[in-house]
Amino acid sequence: LTIIYNTAHDPLSASVGFAILGGAVTWKLVLEFKESFIKANLIGRDLAKVDKPIIPESTGVICAAIYLLCIFLFIPFPFMEWFTGKGIISRSEEFHAPTFPHHKLGEFLSAMLSLQSMTFLGFADDVFDIKWRYKLLLPAIASIPLLMVYYVNFGVTHIVVPIPLRFIFGRIIDLGFLYYVYMGMMAIFCTNSINILAGINGVEIGQSLIIACSIAINDFLFLNGADPAMEVHLFSLYFILPFIGVSLGLIIHNWYPSSVFVGDTYCYFAGMTFAVVGILSHFSKTILLFFIPQIFNFIYSCPQLFKLIDCPRHRLPRFNPSTLKLEYSKVKVQKPLKPSAHFVLKIFVSFGLAETNEVENSIEINNFTLMNLLLLRFGPLHEKTLTILIMVLQILASCLAFIIRYRLVHFFYEG
Ligand code: UD1
Ligand code: MG
Repeated sequence: LTIIYNTAHDPLSASVGFAILGGAVTWKLVLEFKESFIKANLIGRDLAKVDKPIIPESTGVICAAIYLLCIFLFIPFPFMEWFTGKGIISRSEEFHAPTFPHHKLGEFLSAMLSLQSMTFLGFADDVFDIKWRYKLLLPAIASIPLLMVYYVNFGVTHIVVPIPLRFIFGRIIDLGFLYYVYMGMMAIFCTNSINILAGINGVEIGQSLIIACSIAINDFLFLNGADPAMEVHLFSLYFILPFIGVSLGLIIHNWYPSSVFVGDTYCYFAGMTFAVVGILSHFSKTILLFFIPQIFNFIYSCPQLFKLIDCPRHRLPRFNPSTLKLEYSKVKVQKPLKPSAHFVLKIFVSFGLAETNEVENSIEINNFTLMNLLLLRFGPLHEKTLTILIMVLQILASCLAFIIRYRLVHFFYEG
């Protein structure tokens, strides 16, 4: 009883409790619903196995549903003091007593609305295979509730210019409307960048878990009562901790050899969780630092995403059944190449990012993804080894992010 009483008065402990509970429930439900997913034809073939088995897909929807349920149940906790007396006093305006923090509640509600919309979009994508142009736009629309709350609560649209650029822009520039465009683009980036660093067992959740843990570690650095940023970091933790819980529950089934696939549902849900936290907690730049591998993968993919070079439906690595290892996959492009494609290819080859092979009147090029690049450089690898390698890279990137954020930052900003 004491534990329950204390937990009710300490939202952070409640959040940890929901994370553990959410993880356990996700693990159990995925186990129980596997067959139902197959019956509902929510399936995908595991392309990196000898017999390409049929695997239930989109189980990220269970994970996202349990997560949202945890957040629903959690909402009263940060406001507990208002239900236990203080709220009644506050309704009397004579004493200028504090009023209920509607803006905080607004943040929670808008975050949940955006997260729910993205889960819905991801699930629709798994079922109907939505076209890329819509997939790009919809996360920005789903983030409008967040942007509205941001406008009403903070409305800060200026940025402090890094010291080396101040001779051009001055100390502060007000981006105005562009700041909202930037935040909308962040939602597009976070969701899609996880979805395109995907395709081998465990990699979607693996990268998301490392990003989430990095955000949580960063939040804990600010939890010493005196820090003015403590409140926003607590808000971030309330969203990130249950995310870590449900993701752990799902990765048990998705780790090599996967018995379920997470689907686009999970990728969008995970990306939106990071965007929500970044936007409403004001540290979108720090969050983007944790996305270094995804930023690299996105920039590297651009020639294919923007159709300079053909982009096949799947760019995931190719499974070689005789060695049981993954090799980099290739795309065949007809000659002659467009001049712009030729130019990009020349640069990529000179930086060791591309390998070409001429066959008759076409040319074979490795697909431009981080996974294929690792296979190109470090030879054929076992699927599990490649997932672990990506995760190690993600951890190293987070270490670099912390160094930039807490050490090198002094070269760019004062104080
Ligand atoms: C994105 C990538 C695509 C990549 C795919 C893999 C771009 C532009 N798109 O497309 O190149 O091939 O993700 O997820 O970069 N799968 C496995 N093993 C896994 C996970 C997935 O074989 O561990 C396969 C399954 O057949 C599964 C399919 O990938 O059905 C899922 O692909 P989907 O999420 O629909 O692809 P996109 O997100 O459209
Ligand atoms: Mg996908």
